[in-house]
Amino acid sequence: MQKNNKGFIDVLVGLQWGDEGKGKNIDELLSNGVYSAVARFQGGANAGHTIKSGDITFIGHIIPSGCLRKDIELYIGNEVVVDVVSLIKEISQLKDLGFDIKERLYISNRAKLVSYLHPFIDQAEEAYRSKGGNKIGTTSRGIGPAYSDSRSRKGLLVGDLNFTDFEQKEKELTELHMDILNMYKNECDFDMDEDKIKEAREKWLLTLEELKKLNICDLSFLIQKRLSEGKNILAEGAQAVMLDIDFGDYPNVTSSNTLPANVCLGLGVPHTMIRNVYGVIKAYTTKVGGGTFPSRISDLAVEKLFQDAGHEFGATTGRPRMCGWLDLFALRYAIGLSGANKIFINKADICPAENIEVVTGYEINGKILEEFPLRLNEVTGVKTEKLAGWGEANFGINDKEKATPELVTYLNYIKDKLSDLDVEIISVGTGPDRENSINW
Ligand code: GDP
Ligand code: IMO
Ligand code: MG
Repeated sequence: MQKNNKGFIDVLVGLQWGDEGKGKNIDELLSNGVYSAVARFQGGANAGHTIKSGDITFIGHIIPSGCLRKDIELYIGNEVVVDVVSLIKEISQLKDLGFDIKERLYISNRAKLVSYLHPFIDQAEEAYRSKGGNKIGTTSRGIGPAYSDSRSRKGLLVGDLNFTDFEQKEKELTELHMDILNMYKNECDFDMDEDKIKEAREKWLLTLEELKKLNICDLSFLIQKRLSEGKNILAEGAQAVMLDIDFGDYPNVTSSNTLPANVCLGLGVPHTMIRNVYGVIKAYTTKVGGGTFPSRISDLAVEKLFQDAGHEFGATTGRPRMCGWLDLFALRYAIGLSGANKIFINKADICPAENIEVVTGYEINGKILEEFPLRLNEVTGVKTEKLAGWGEANFGINDKEKATPELVTYLNYIKDKLSDLDVEIISVGTGPDRENSINW
């Protein structure tokens, strides 16, 4: 099969702590006609990817960001944990917007089902962790528990729906989940309202019936077929490198591997099919949830300026995002891990500070680090460099010539700092709309 493949797979991932604008860039990359499909290969409805085209704004949690392009197939791979309620809701929202995606959506029969009790367990685990002051600040979407069940081989697969033993398997899993919840109930305080659980179950069962009517398939087979037809596929990362379960600041991470390496396992394709890796950053950095954020802006008033100007509130949970300076030390680590060779820099229109900083190194007790630390809470200080800010004058521009000199200096500075790596800046975002970017 592999020898006959004529198409290829490109991957796009976030290189910071999420919310870099991946959804926008996926949608933007589809305008060149190179790709026939977008595939989610990990994560679940913890993602919130915003796409904006004119009057239409859509936030996809589980549906790939090719949904506003009518000729693009949408794939959900086997390493995705499928929140069926979100999935069905998004399909219906898209229909209302004039995009009936059912025929072009394909879901791997090996994808993992998020059960209606996973979000409750997620909350219970958080309540338990917060007793020790170690809350992760998850999105409460049941991501951790769904991946745990998958790894311990108790979970339900989307394809299980078509087998007669589904009911029995689901019953056994529910019993186990209830035992877990009752155990936590005795230990800590969380919302285990029986009416809410009943309501969640009813919704879940109803939406499972809808899921059964969708294209559930051997996605690896379909993708390999498409590649052999000469079609190219864009793999859409969720979360970001710094939230990777193995390479992020464990345990303040998500429960999946977010790196491009996981495209092979998350879609069932050989690594030889992967060509470019697009990496996405913002001109500054944001983070939601627990854990240390080394580049966080220490002047809270300045942080608030970025939060307000950049509308930095979670697309999934609505939580305010912490804002930090661009962190080149973390970025170099993320580029190394991901192999990103083409960089998108978003939010170049957002710079509400007269002077900005860039983090160039971390230190622990006065010692500058060469390697990225295992635990970010060990970091005692950061090295920064200062540059001039540029206000909001670059909003909406498409022309490189119109960029303000301070922005050009900043981008050249980043380019220079990454010059020993095999990367190029290819696009600079100047607003949320698919049209708001400069080819760099
Ligand atoms: P994702 O999770 O990486 O897809 O990013 P989110 O959708 O969670 O957050 C990115 C936010 O920034 C969204 O509200 C986008 O509409 C917005 N956005 C993306 N690129 C730009 C940009 O260049 N400028 C501005 N002002 N907003 C942007
Ligand atoms: P997108 O794809 C930003 C964070 C949560 C929490 C940690 C674990 O929109 O960039 P989880 O619910 O996954 O168990 O939470 O990961 N997190 C994200 N932060 N953007 C995301 O997705 C995120 N998905 C999870 O805030 O700190
Ligand atoms: Mg997001």
